[in-house]
Amino acid sequence: MTETTLMSPQEAGFPPDFLWGAATAAYQIEGAVREDGRGPSIWDTFSHTPGKTKNGDTGDVADDHYHRRQEDIALMRELGLDAYRFSVAWPRIIPAGTGAVNQAGLDFYDRLVDGLLAAGIQPFATLYHWDLPQALQDAGGWANRDTAAAFADYAEVVARQLGDRVRAWITLNEPWVVAFVGNLQGRHAPGFQDLPTALRVTHHLLLAHGLAVPRLRAATPSTPVGITLNLTPVEPAGDSPQDRAAAARQDTYLNRIFLDPLRRGAYPGEAQAFLGGATLPVQEGDLATIAAPLDFLGVNYYARSVVRHAAGSGMLEIETISPPGEYTTMGWEVYPAGLRALLDRVHRDYAFPAYYITENGVAFADVVETDGAVHDARRTAFLQGHFRAAAQAIRDGVPLRGYFIWSLLDNFEWGHGYSQRFGVVYVDYATQQRIVKDSGRWYQQFLAARGEAAAP
Ligand code: FCB
Repeated sequence: MTETTLMSPQEAGFPPDFLWGAATAAYQIEGAVREDGRGPSIWDTFSHTPGKTKNGDTGDVADDHYHRRQEDIALMRELGLDAYRFSVAWPRIIPAGTGAVNQAGLDFYDRLVDGLLAAGIQPFATLYHWDLPQALQDAGGWANRDTAAAFADYAEVVARQLGDRVRAWITLNEPWVVAFVGNLQGRHAPGFQDLPTALRVTHHLLLAHGLAVPRLRAATPSTPVGITLNLTPVEPAGDSPQDRAAAARQDTYLNRIFLDPLRRGAYPGEAQAFLGGATLPVQEGDLATIAAPLDFLGVNYYARSVVRHAAGSGMLEIETISPPGEYTTMGWEVYPAGLRALLDRVHRDYAFPAYYITENGVAFADVVETDGAVHDARRTAFLQGHFRAAAQAIRDGVPLRGYFIWSLLDNFEWGHGYSQRFGVVYVDYATQQRIVKDSGRWYQQFLAARGEAAAP
């Protein structure tokens, strides 16, 4: 570590009411995929399709959180978290996607929320973290406009049940990944490689979000509503006009396709140049629906993108560069400065009323040492670097209100299966034993230092 250890949030420059938490997602931790009336999702189908995930791993058991809810809440309490971001599994609530509501599914989240509140932890609920009911996929999935209306109905069901206790709603997690990794790259469920489909999915996800916002507000008028985007600061590899134009294309593709309609009521016109003839299926009134005012933007930040112009290379005509530096087992660069640059830029250009970092974290090849502990000093350094960058963004004037580490627990990392460990808590998948990593212990001390400073 080149910098001194961060001792406490106040020393780092965070305001006293800043919320510190950790995040997870239903399919990545819950398991119990056939219990209490849960219907199949596209991730059950995809992970059970040979060749789609590393080692054929599935979320069938995952962290068995569905049965270990209380133990996991106790762990969060021990760490001293202020808030916990989880996702609600649509196939537990409405197993066929539309129609009959499964009360047993709602009951699980009811108990989770009550348990969190009893532990003094504020629940942040994400309504869609990628587990679309398979029945809806069978009818076209997000490429079918009807799925947007089905999502709004589902959102209202959840809001009516949990809305009196949930601290904030996040409609969608990372629609870019859903649309383009799932429907253009084919590495995520449902596994298509088709640009027109990806664009239909893009628009219908945004429409789903826009239709859900007034339904959530009507059911829970005082609960803040936002959306979580994965955003990537883009830099040109060199100073040439060609490299700058390449960076602008990548920025349009990764960031502006979602930010512009949400905040400016229009898709970026620049996208047409690289989308060729492919279009977004916009109907009259959609863009106004999508631009419904939000209370906050959730930002997931992992790394930057450095690109150079590469004629003839794919849709964007770019080549991605890997600058020298530290890389994670995901192959992602460790680049804390990107978080400040990203927040400053998004706030300057889009001025959302507030922001949360809804995910930031890192995968390394963690092992349990002979002393029974997980000495992940690099993760602690990663977190400290990114906390400092977030504090700088606050000093720059960005209304950042909270920070959720990805992830509370090691978990099912989608196509990578269980091979990528993002947790501040290690999970031994053979025994389901949880071991707080050194980084989790450091986070615990960092948060506890607030109480000590406040004490007389
Ligand atoms: C994000 C996802 C999250 C997790 C992290 C590593 O894209 O939202 O579920 O997989 O990446």
